[in-house]
Amino acid sequence: MPKYTVPDFEAMQGKQKIVMLTAYDYAGAVMAEAAGVDLILVGDSLGMVVLGYESTVFVTMQDMIHHTRAVKRGARETFIVVDMPFGTVQTGLTDALRNAVHLIRETGADAVKIEGGEEVTPIVRHLSQSGIPVVAHVGLTPQTAVNLGGFKVQGKTVQDAQQIMRDAQAVADAGAFMVVLEAIPAPLAQKISERLKVPTIGIGAGPHTDGQVLVYHDLLGLFDRFTPKFVKQYAQMAKLGTEAIQNYVQDVKNGSFPGPEHSFTMKEEVLSRLY
Ligand code: KIV
Ligand code: NA
Repeated sequence: MPKYTVPDFEAMQGKQKIVMLTAYDYAGAVMAEAAGVDLILVGDSLGMVVLGYESTVFVTMQDMIHHTRAVKRGARETFIVVDMPFGTVQTGLTDALRNAVHLIRETGADAVKIEGGEEVTPIVRHLSQSGIPVVAHVGLTPQTAVNLGGFKVQGKTVQDAQQIMRDAQAVADAGAFMVVLEAIPAPLAQKISERLKVPTIGIGAGPHTDGQVLVYHDLLGLFDRFTPKFVKQYAQMAKLGTEAIQNYVQDVKNGSFPGPEHSFTMKEEVLSRLY
């Protein structure tokens, strides 16, 4: 299957759901591509699920570049979106463009993602007009979660819901080709999805968006710190992994690993001539 391009995602609306998954390394990207996800996000959730930070604000350009390169090597036929880390777009349009170009050039990613609504529309417009495909991200925006009361559902009041609708419309009007809606009520996400011409990708935004995204470690049960309500765990890999490692520890301790099937032999005549 040839790799998708930006217009393909718009064309999928109303015909088939768009499936996005995060990945952060070669092995994860290989699995995501083999499983048939439509696009991969190298999210700055990297900071939390892979690097163990308490927040995504500690993630750097170098972190994103390092990991996105690995993802690219594992998923050459899949459209890749890379998150612009905290602080890399807020210091002016020139910096934002320079950082976006740098990310794309260094990694081979196809698009960048920027958190924020109305306040980031000049950046979204500048990057889009410069030829960089931009994915927007509104609702719960983890880089500024401290201002939003933590990792909580957004848009519960008339005022907040109205603002999220304005945010989504504004970033789409500014040229974003896709909008991620995070942690908002399902009916609000539905309303936004009906209004926007570009596809919406939900996470904790109900079933009516044009697509869904999940964090790889959440889907596979690899992240132990917390599991948001909107996560469906398709496996308990942390549990499986710990059990497997326990078996390894036990086998080495009691001498049952490595067995003959894991060991190399040597000709007796060679061995006998050693002194
Ligand atoms: O960083 C990330 O994984 C994200 C998704 C949750 C949308 O931004
Ligand atoms: Na992110």
